[in-house]
Amino acid sequence: MSKLEATAPGRVNLIGEHTDYNGGMVLPAALSVGLRVEVMSRCDEKIHVLSSQFDEPAMRNINDEMSGHWSDPVVGALQEAKKVGLIDGSQTSADVAIVSNIPPGAGLSSSAALIVAILKALATDRFKSRNDVKIAQDARRVENEFMGVPCGIMDQMAVALATPGTAMALDTKHLEFDLVALPTSHELVVIHSGLTRKLTDGRYAARKVECDAAKAHFGTNDLCLLGLEQVEQADLDETPKKRALHCVTENARVWTAIDALKAGDIAALGKAMNDSHVSMRDLFEMSLPEIDALVASAVELGAVGARLTGGGFGGCIVACIEKGTREDWLAALLEKHPSSRFIDAVGGAD
Ligand code: GLA
Repeated sequence: MSKLEATAPGRVNLIGEHTDYNGGMVLPAALSVGLRVEVMSRCDEKIHVLSSQFDEPAMRNINDEMSGHWSDPVVGALQEAKKVGLIDGSQTSADVAIVSNIPPGAGLSSSAALIVAILKALATDRFKSRNDVKIAQDARRVENEFMGVPCGIMDQMAVALATPGTAMALDTKHLEFDLVALPTSHELVVIHSGLTRKLTDGRYAARKVECDAAKAHFGTNDLCLLGLEQVEQADLDETPKKRALHCVTENARVWTAIDALKAGDIAALGKAMNDSHVSMRDLFEMSLPEIDALVASAVELGAVGARLTGGGFGGCIVACIEKGTREDWLAALLEKHPSSRFIDAVGGAD
């Protein structure tokens, strides 16, 4: 087999956090940072991985378990590829070369992009095919079952299917989506807080368990679809109740943001983003004081709205600012928060 290639972008979620395993909506957008993989099949069980982000190559085996190494997503992706028939016959494993400028541990889906790109590359083999939604589902299984991260499907759907210049209004319960044009007057800027995070560190999983407690109480898998009053009046422990309140209100805010984007109502988009941050801070308790301060400064310095984005406990914020104002806004923000840095900005085509 010849060399197979594929690309996948990083993603930023504009709004809708921790809704994707609670039956709700999310609104991610593809970034311009991304990665490219080259995949070469092998007929033994070895996996040789090269990455532009790490000096040392990784030598793994297709039967390896998750080990905490940066190459784990590659092993998981290749095991999944075997299971679903994207590697078969005399091909038993593969070598993978990665060129990436997605910062790892930043909440920008570097791991989902890597897994999706490997599966997409293998699916371009002239004897095989697999649609992108299926690839996103395969990639989520790698995270859930191989990596042990109980994540939802937002990241995989976004990096497999989002297109530049649009946000993906994704219903994670039915896997239906609409691509909504991003504003042309404003841009959504992604700033890394300087605090790195790993979904494997247990705090993401702890939130999932707390949501599961709320799900058990209400007898539903879809916390986001409960009525606000029903949750407010429920006789439920404080922690799962707060998580459920976040889910219900966050889901409503995603719809507000979608309507705002369609109507060109930037003020409403900004307000939904600000309200979302407060909910993540106070109800889902997934922020950190440094991130709250960064979000507050982003708004004080002129952003229409700003919020933590991704799994939480570190990583990036996303802020909505008027086009043409980025240079001054960013300089002032980075001066106040020297450990933060600019990652990317997305907006609609002019
Ligand atoms: C991570 C997970 C996603 C989603 C977000 C929070 O990015 O991989 O599935 O749950 O956190 O919205």
